[in-house]
Amino acid sequence: MHITSLTRDGILSHIDALSAVLDNCVRGGASVSFMLPFTPEKARAFWLGVAESVGRGERTVLACFDEQNALIGTVQLITDQPENQPHRADVAKLLVHDKARRQGAAMALMEALEAQAREQGKSVLMLDTATGSGAETFYQRAGWQKAGEIPRYALMPDGEMIATSLFYKFL
Ligand SMILES: CC(C)(COP(=O)(O)OP(=O)(O)OC[C@H]1O[C@@H](n2cnc3c(N)ncnc32)[C@H](O)[C@@H]1OP(=O)(O)O)[C@@H](O)C(=O)NCCC(=O)NCCS
Repeated sequence: MHITSLTRDGILSHIDALSAVLDNCVRGGASVSFMLPFTPEKARAFWLGVAESVGRGERTVLACFDEQNALIGTVQLITDQPENQPHRADVAKLLVHDKARRQGAAMALMEALEAQAREQGKSVLMLDTATGSGAETFYQRAGWQKAGEIPRYALMPDGEMIATSLFYKFL
């Protein structure tokens, strides 16, 4: 597998594959901002917005491709922060298609993302994820520190209310 940073145009040219990964994760029950029923139009609208944000220089989007050059995963580094937090960035939308899980794609994406963050002068990263999820275990395995939990923070795609866990990592 290999990891690439996608430009605005790169996102637009891979928008079907990115949408398919997002769709697969939401339908699989991941808490990544969306509710069921999820539609291809919602996925496309989300990635169009991300492409414009990349074009404005607000975030970096990484994509992971398998040996057949199929896009199997993605993650985002959001660098558009208030002026008093120039050293900080948020991590969002770490998504790996379920057919490609437990093969190290997410770990490779996060290592590449941390390298990007360092290059951009970031030394503090933050993210949140559903408490008790496989993703929470993943982040702990990837060396992130759990700052705490906020009960009743978000809804799962099926409507169940869940807590969120806040994580940070110093680079
Ligand atoms: C969480 C997610 C990104 C992990 O992707 P992945 O490519 O399968 O992860 P990796 O193969 O790099 O996993 C590395 C290690 O993390 C841990 N891990 C990963 N997924 C896990 C899970 N579901 N449950 C428990 N531990 C997990 C394991 O220790 C794993 O090593 P191992 O396979 O040797 O045991 C993926 O399951 C996913 O996309 N989930 C849906 C979307 C989501 O919830 N994203 C997070 C949003 S904040």
